[in-house]
Amino acid sequence: MAKLAPSILSCDFSQFREQLLAAWEGGAEIIHVDVMDGHFVPNLTFGPPIVEAVRKVLPEAFIDVHLMMDNPCRFIRDFAQAGADLISFHVEAVADFDAALREIAKMGKKGGLALCPGTPLSVLEHVLEKVSLVLLLTVNPGFGGQRFIPGMEEKIRALRRTIQERGLKVDVEIDGGVKEENIEFLASCGASIIVAGSLVFTASDIRETVRRLTRAIRVY
Ligand code: DX5
Ligand code: ZN
Repeated sequence: MAKLAPSILSCDFSQFREQLLAAWEGGAEIIHVDVMDGHFVPNLTFGPPIVEAVRKVLPEAFIDVHLMMDNPCRFIRDFAQAGADLISFHVEAVADFDAALREIAKMGKKGGLALCPGTPLSVLEHVLEKVSLVLLLTVNPGFGGQRFIPGMEEKIRALRRTIQERGLKVDVEIDGGVKEENIEFLASCGASIIVAGSLVFTASDIRETVRRLTRAIRVY
C-alpha cells in the first residue's frame, strides 16, 4: 500500500502551520524533511529546529528526515532528539554505512540509505537487510519542482524485485519529480513511499490534493 510523504521543501513558510495541518487533514501520515547543507548539494535548507516545529504542529506524524549533507553522522543525534522517526543519509557521503546506521539505531530511530540517480543499486549489496528504507532520488538533488529523470522507473522496479527475492521488509521511497501524471505509475513500479513537494505545497487546495493523491496510490 503506497503512502504519500509531502516534502516541506516546497512549503510557504509564512503559512507553515496551516499548510502542514492541511496536508495532515488530507491524510498524509508521513512528513518528508529535505535537509541540505549547501555542500553535498548546491542548496541550503534547514536544520533540527524545523523538525521540532513539525513535531509541535503534528505530534502524531511520522517524520522522515532526508540528510543531503556531507558527513551526516555529525547531526544524527540532533535530528533524532528534535523528533525524527526515520533518518536517511546518502551513500555517496558516507564511507562506513554500518557505523552511521548504528548511530541512528542507538537513538531508537529507523535508518535509511539514500541514492542519487547515478548511483547503482549494487552499493546496497551488503547492507540492504540492515535498513528500514531505501530512498531513490529520481531527480538530481538540491531543488524541488524538477522533472522526473526518465529511466528511473527501472531502478525502482529492480530494487523492488531484489527486496522481494530476498524476502526483506524494506520500504522503497522515491523522491523528486512526482506529478499528477506519473504518481500512480510510480506506485505501480513498486514505490511504497512517494515524496511529493511542489505537487502538494503549491496546490491551491492542499488538503484536497493530498486526499486525492493518497486515495489514488494506496491501491498499489
Ligand atoms: C531534491 C529534493 C526534491 C524534493 C521533492 O533534492 O529532495 O526531490 O524532495 O521535490 P518535488 O516533489 O517538488 O520534485
Ligand atoms: Zn528528500
